[in-house]
Amino acid sequence: MKQQQIIDWTREDSADLYGIRNWGAGYFDLNEAGEITAQAPTTDGNTQSVSMLEIARGAMERGLGMPLLLRIENLLDAQVALINTSFARAIEQCGYNNVFRGVFPIKVNQQCQVIEEIARAGSPFNHGLEAGSKAELIAALSTLDNTESLIVCNGYKDEEFINLGLQAQRLGVQVFFVVETPSEVATIIACAEREQVRPNIGVRIKLASKVGGYWNATSGDRSIFGLGSNDLIAMVDQLRHHDMLDCLKLLHYHLGSQVPNIRDIRTGVLEACRYYADLVEEGAAMGYLDLGGGLAVDYDGSKTNYTHSKNYSLDEYCVDVVEAIMGTLDSEGVAHPVIITESGRATVAYSSVLLFDILDTTRFEPVELEHTKITEDDHPMLRYLQDAANNVTAKNLQESYNDALYYRDEVRSLYLHGQVSLRERANAENLFLQAAQKIRALLDEAEEIPVDLQALPEVLSDIYYANVSVFQSLPDMWAIDQVFPVVPIHRHDEAPTRSAIIADITCDCDGKIDRFIGRQEEQKTLPLHPLKDGEDYILGAFLVGAYQETLGDLHNLFGDTNVVNVRINGDGSVDYNREIQGDSIADVLSYVEYRPQDMFERFRKLAEKAVKDGRISPQQRKQILHTYTASMSGYTYFEK
Ligand SMILES: Cc1ncc(COP(=O)(O)O)c(C=O)c1O
Repeated sequence: MKQQQIIDWTREDSADLYGIRNWGAGYFDLNEAGEITAQAPTTDGNTQSVSMLEIARGAMERGLGMPLLLRIENLLDAQVALINTSFARAIEQCGYNNVFRGVFPIKVNQQCQVIEEIARAGSPFNHGLEAGSKAELIAALSTLDNTESLIVCNGYKDEEFINLGLQAQRLGVQVFFVVETPSEVATIIACAEREQVRPNIGVRIKLASKVGGYWNATSGDRSIFGLGSNDLIAMVDQLRHHDMLDCLKLLHYHLGSQVPNIRDIRTGVLEACRYYADLVEEGAAMGYLDLGGGLAVDYDGSKTNYTHSKNYSLDEYCVDVVEAIMGTLDSEGVAHPVIITESGRATVAYSSVLLFDILDTTRFEPVELEHTKITEDDHPMLRYLQDAANNVTAKNLQESYNDALYYRDEVRSLYLHGQVSLRERANAENLFLQAAQKIRALLDEAEEIPVDLQALPEVLSDIYYANVSVFQSLPDMWAIDQVFPVVPIHRHDEAPTRSAIIADITCDCDGKIDRFIGRQEEQKTLPLHPLKDGEDYILGAFLVGAYQETLGDLHNLFGDTNVVNVRINGDGSVDYNREIQGDSIADVLSYVEYRPQDMFERFRKLAEKAVKDGRISPQQRKQILHTYTASMSGYTYFEK
């Protein structure tokens, strides 16, 4: 970065650099102090702007240290409302003769507080839940109290699952059983006959339409779930045989999550509507068309059909869906069904931000210390290396790099054979960094960057050590190379002069963040600010509300982070509504079969023996056991 650019830096430069207004969907911005703000829609219909740093400080003062998962309830409510009002608008605009009923798939964020908030915010819209297992059905039944809302049961269902749903139906709950495999039909029929309940049956079909994006294996002939056309006919005949075609009401498909291209969405609807019309023709009651999930989140803000983006707005999605349904069914004379979507990601992604602090950094820069001076006594290779470092110019970048690399590796090899000392080796590393940094600084001026040098900026980038576990809190980053916006939540009035990758607190080489969103394309490093003594440097991983919380694991025994749910009020004040302390060390140990009580007893015996052997005093024993128990009940992350 040029000196003048550093001096003149403003928050607008930061907004542009980190793309905040592109991926933030209007929910995040910057204030004059250079802090990221949550732009929270409030109940009075306005938007309040609150500094994320202030929210984080408030949480820390209340004892909720970093890392901290921040859930902003206003954003969750706003997304639930937005999905419903967008569909309502599209329905009105197109003259569609039925309604929209969204269901939130519990698996996308199973946390009780999230599901309760969705049920509360969704109630005015009759927004329901999708359950993919018995546990999720029980969660749905205990959370939804609006009987106009639907519960759609997907996944493999055993008799217990079906019986529970049928009993709930007796209570007035609108439960739908979606047949995922041919064998389920007989079970549903048998359970329904035994319980004397007419079930609401749905069927998931396998669409031939393939979609783009990461999760496209969910669509097409080889998708795991759903019935092909032959199975569908067999099911219809089976239901007809049992005089139950009036129970077949819903057609469901799921193209895959995060469908980035609107064309694929439209193609899926068109194909599904053909099946829908034919089921009506076969005599099924029908009435509901369930499009599954797939509504994407623009994680990189590029508004393209790239995997981590989407080339459509929510309004376009709704209008396209409504128009596509009408386009097919109107020509067949089929009544418009209730439109169901199971949007998960688009509902919850925005409302959660993972905040974490940076503990330390490593720079790949030469040091100027007494021992790094090269003398006559040093090995000649070191002097050659020094010459290479001194002679770097814009005209000999490749040659200088080759020389520096060659002499450094020669010194490493000499070290292996005991021919140079540790100090000489350290000097060689230092001289190499001197040369490499000079070359990097001159790359900007080069007309063409030689291929070998293209990776130099990454190779020389800093490592920022973050108080977070990628495996626990951002599993998709590790498992499927998902890119989330990662941005400092403050200091945006200063130029970020460092360039870094982020290493997490696990001692695992995969525990790192080295793919970031960029202005045009993904970047391998992130611009960051140098740490300041005695000052926290806090980063946020944004849009992490979907899938991340429950998919995380206990790698290195880093447990669940602290969580706080906040609500931003119309006067800009913040309510810290709900708090959950992160796992303690005792918690995570008990998850992996240890018994903290037995462990304490063993440690106590060890300490008592040390007293008996005269190695420590009883008072020291007391102190040692106190340290042990304090650790056992402490946070699994780095505590300051
Ligand atoms: C059947 C079903 N419905 C809904 C969803 C949620 O999808 P999304 O998060 O893309 O909305 C999924 C997730 O893959 C799913 O498998």
